[in-house]
Amino acid sequence: MTNARPVEITRLYGTTPDAGRDGLWDTLREHHGPVAPVELETGVRAWLLLGYHENLAVLQNQHLFSRDTRHWSEVATSRVDPASARPTLSWRPNALYADGAEHARLRSPIVDGLARVDMSATALTVRRIADELVDSFVADGSADLVSEYADPLPVLVVNSLYGLPDSYGYMLGDLTATVLGEDARRGEEAVSRIHQYFSELVARKRERPGPDLVSWMLEHPAGLSGDEVAHQAALINNASHQATTHLIGNTMRTLLTDANIRTAHTDALLPVHELLDHVMWTDAPCQILPARIALQDTRIGNAEIRAGDALLIGFAAAHRDPAVRCDRDGYTGVSSGRRAHLMFGAGPHACPARELSRMIAAIAVTALQERLVGMRLAVAPEELRWVPSPFVRGLRELPITFAPGGPAAPETGEAPEPGGADGTPGPEGADGPEDDLLERLLNWWHGLRT
Ligand code: HEM
Repeated sequence: MTNARPVEITRLYGTTPDAGRDGLWDTLREHHGPVAPVELETGVRAWLLLGYHENLAVLQNQHLFSRDTRHWSEVATSRVDPASARPTLSWRPNALYADGAEHARLRSPIVDGLARVDMSATALTVRRIADELVDSFVADGSADLVSEYADPLPVLVVNSLYGLPDSYGYMLGDLTATVLGEDARRGEEAVSRIHQYFSELVARKRERPGPDLVSWMLEHPAGLSGDEVAHQAALINNASHQATTHLIGNTMRTLLTDANIRTAHTDALLPVHELLDHVMWTDAPCQILPARIALQDTRIGNAEIRAGDALLIGFAAAHRDPAVRCDRDGYTGVSSGRRAHLMFGAGPHACPARELSRMIAAIAVTALQERLVGMRLAVAPEELRWVPSPFVRGLRELPITFAPGGPAAPETGEAPEPGGADGTPGPEGADGPEDDLLERLLNWWHGLRT
């Protein structure tokens, strides 16, 4: 890749300042305009899109910019193996990495499956899960809202859409955390267990279909094979987890540290959905999204992009672009522009679960405010530590204190556990004994914990 003038290449890894990267995006924009050359690791280069309109244009144009990372020149020259666990530019046989007709074929069962989810019943399930998580720490008067709440909650909700009891969700959350953890050997084992989990889930649903997302994807007219459905279910798990966790975490951090926002919210001037939009503008849970691959030589801003170059979607930078960034409203301190943020993507790959994820985050935040009286940060705001990733923008921990309380009062009309996606019990019954590979996987996981 080349650039019109001599440039200094910014290395994205290993440069997370405690105060976050907002200053970095501004400096890069000053030096390079709307597109900056960056290094993902030594010698591995990409273009970072900083401008709002440039990000939007690339997201929307799949003819010039492919989602299929196998087109990346680093892969074509074998410098990078796209099948490796590299989180940045890996490739998997799922909708996220497909273009055109193949993308439509793989995406349609996901979109149509999610459209069948009963949102009212799922809202009750989200609240039940939120209450049970709060119950586990409410008597202590202190908690880490990331590890004890925001992290497990999304995976438990998505697991409920598969019609499985929560115990499977805890296993999946644990395996996903191990994949992202620092122990490479355990991480590799977890990757293969997750693959096993989804293959076995599909096998179970083929045998005993029910009112759940996997059964709906299996019966979809697109006619995906069992293996393809397993890969799309794994995509749903991966795509839903961290972004939702950090949207909840970042929203709680905003409420706990920004008195203007907190007052506006408690005075009902800033309803929870507008609060979420404000956080997605100012504290986007995903600051960079990898990636699009240029299919032709093209020029954006000052950058001469070559076919095969990788472009990184810069959400956080786009949201700070002076071209769209309006002054904060004087009274509430809320970023204006509200829903025009790019946080759910745009174009053919735009998030198919926008409303579901907003609902999960809104209920999660509301439940904490209703249940935890006198909630405060347990450390000074500047002591909060960020996840050391150029892609995710979220906290490692969010320690809080509050007045110790009691368990939630049981709700009437609550969705039963395990919840089918329409709020009915899964076909296998509450905790009934199963004798299949999925059950054996669960027993293996229980064995590790005892
Ligand atoms: C706050 C939470 C979430 C955010 C910010 C978010 C954001 C996004 C974004 C930006 C994309 C586009 C990726 C790209 O263009 O390369 C995407 C895709 C996707 N998201 Fe979400 N997402 C969230 C939650 C969820 C949830 C809860 C689910 C499922 C239950 C989900 C399922 C998916 C899937 C399947 C795709 C791939 C679509 C495709 O490639 O056609 N997401 N999401």
